[in-house]
Order: sequence, then structure tokens, then C-alpha cells
Amino acid sequence: MSKKNVFVRRLVIVLFIVILSLMVVGGRLFTDIEEDNSVSEEEDRIVVGVSQLGSESGWRTANTESVQNAFTQQNGYFMIFQNARQKQENQIKTIRSFISQRVDYIVFSPVVETGWETVLQEAKEAGIPVILMDRNVNIRDRSLYVTCVGSDFVEEGERAGRWLEKDLKKRGMNEGQVNIVVLKGTEGSTAQIGRTIGFSTVASDHLNWNILEQEYADFTSAKGREVMETFLKKYPDIDVVVSQNDDMTFGAIEAIKESGQTVGIGGDITIISFDAVHDALEMVAKGIINVDIECNPNQGEYLSQVIDMLEDGQEVEQQYYVEENVFTIENVTRELLEERNY
Ligand code: AHR
Repeated sequence: MSKKNVFVRRLVIVLFIVILSLMVVGGRLFTDIEEDNSVSEEEDRIVVGVSQLGSESGWRTANTESVQNAFTQQNGYFMIFQNARQKQENQIKTIRSFISQRVDYIVFSPVVETGWETVLQEAKEAGIPVILMDRNVNIRDRSLYVTCVGSDFVEEGERAGRWLEKDLKKRGMNEGQVNIVVLKGTEGSTAQIGRTIGFSTVASDHLNWNILEQEYADFTSAKGREVMETFLKKYPDIDVVVSQNDDMTFGAIEAIKESGQTVGIGGDITIISFDAVHDALEMVAKGIINVDIECNPNQGEYLSQVIDMLEDGQEVEQQYYVEENVFTIENVTRELLEERNY
């Protein structure tokens, strides 16, 4: 083969490789355009930024799952979820990041009630509706959020008090002194404030109810145990423990048992708990916890209904309360325990 022919042959090979590369790159470009289309499909979804306050309790885990099950892609949502690990400053940062991402809605469970004015004003100015979940905020300008979906915590506290009234009467103990200690949840949270007010209101009708001490135990099992140990050392004659959530109750029961005292029906210390998660209801069925005031974490469905209404341009109410019950050994059935998903 002549030198000229060799050159032409090499040129043809090089050209062939160049054309092949262009086809591959072109193909990729085409694929990218298709992916871009799917992004714009995502933009058709309702974008919800959710700031969960933490993962301190079994109840909180159930609440998170409920929200994640409601705001799915199949249901037409694109959810951005952030866990604030019990810190208000984390929630404020998250809300600001939702504002800069121009989400359609902000849903958040305020760790405490105060200190939200500035960031909620920023959301309002950006035209992003804010929906409160589980707990409430204490602010003057009510227009800074659209609605709140959560529990009636004052009613929960009153339910605990009314149950104790009846129980003491049934046991003929409604006249002698009744020594009570209270394990309170996160300081400044709606759940803590409401349950404390509700129970205290009923307690104030009974001169023989002697509240020895109320202490914060952060809604966690470890802290519940620690605070209960302190109470047991200080007060040798506790009749009733009011524990503002099941996790603190689990810790408190361990501490009481270790001190050599008994709990529950027929025991030394009556246990009043809140939440009614599955493991606590098992204890109610066994008579270890006397009563559990339910706090319903299944709020995802309610939240998505509220968003549907807002999307339809309908008016929504200022507050939606979820349905809740009171559980004792009389109404905790096997079927209920099997159905309980949290
Ligand atoms: O705000 C609801 C309360 O917060 C639940 O009682 C508790 O378990 C949670 O951590």
C-alpha cells in the first residue's frame, strides 16, 4: 500500500471514531433532556418542607412516619424533611432554607412555643403558608401561620385529673392526703404547658391532693428515670406519678421497681401516663400503668387534607384537634394491641 493510501485509511478511521463519539455524547444529551423533563414533572408536585423537632420518643417516631406516609410522591407531594434534634435554632435555620428553596408549604412542629415571630414573618413575606403540626406557637400576630393540626393538651391533662378523681373515689381514698409527683416534658413546649395546666386545674379542686414536686424530664426515658430516682430519695411516700409521656414513664417505672416499691393496679404507686404507644398499652393491659391518656401521632392525613383545602382555595380553621382516647385495663383489648401501628 502506498503512503498516500495509508494516510487516507487512517483519516477514515479517525473520522469514524469522531462521529461515533459525537453520537454517544448526543445520546447522553438526549437522555439528559429526558431527565430534565422528569424534574419538571416533579415541579408539578406540591413541595412541602417539613421540620420535625426531634426523635426523643416513640410517639415522635410514629408522628414522623405518619407525615412521611402522607406526603408521598404517589399522593402528589415532594417532601423535604429535616430533623431539628430538639434545637429551636436548627428549626429556624431549616425554615429559612425552606424559604430560600421556595417550597409551597412549610409544616413544622415547634419544639417550644416562643421565639418564632421573626422567621414566621419571613415566611409570610415570601408568601409561603406555614402549618403547625403537633404543638403550637405563642405569638401575637396570628396571621403568621395558617392553621395548627395537633392535640388538645389541656384536655389531655384534665382527662388525667378526672381519671384520678374517679379512681381515688372508687378506692375510698378521696379524703386522705394523696402525694403526687409530676414528670414534666420539654420545658416551654405546648405538650408540657397544656398537660400541666389541665392536670393542675382538676387538682386545684381537691385540697387533699398534695403535689410534692414537678420537674422537667425532657420527654425521654433516661431523664424520666433520673428525675424519678431523685423524687424517690426525697419523698418516701409517693402515691401517684403523673408522667407526661410514655418514654419518661418507662424510665420512672424502672427506678420505682429498683427502689423496691410496686406500681400499677394494687401497687404502692399509681402510674398516670400520656401518649398510649403500643408498649405502654401492653403495660396498661398488665395493670402496670393504671391509665394512659392518648396523644394521637397520626397527623399526616389531617395535614394533607388541610393542604388539599388550601389548594382548592377553601377557608381553613385556626386549629384542628386529632381524635384521642383514654386507656385503662378495661378497654385495652388484644385487637387494639394488634392493630396499634406505633
Ligand atoms: O408533643 C407531643 C409530645 O411530644 C408527646 O407526648 C411526646 O411523647 C413527644 O415527645
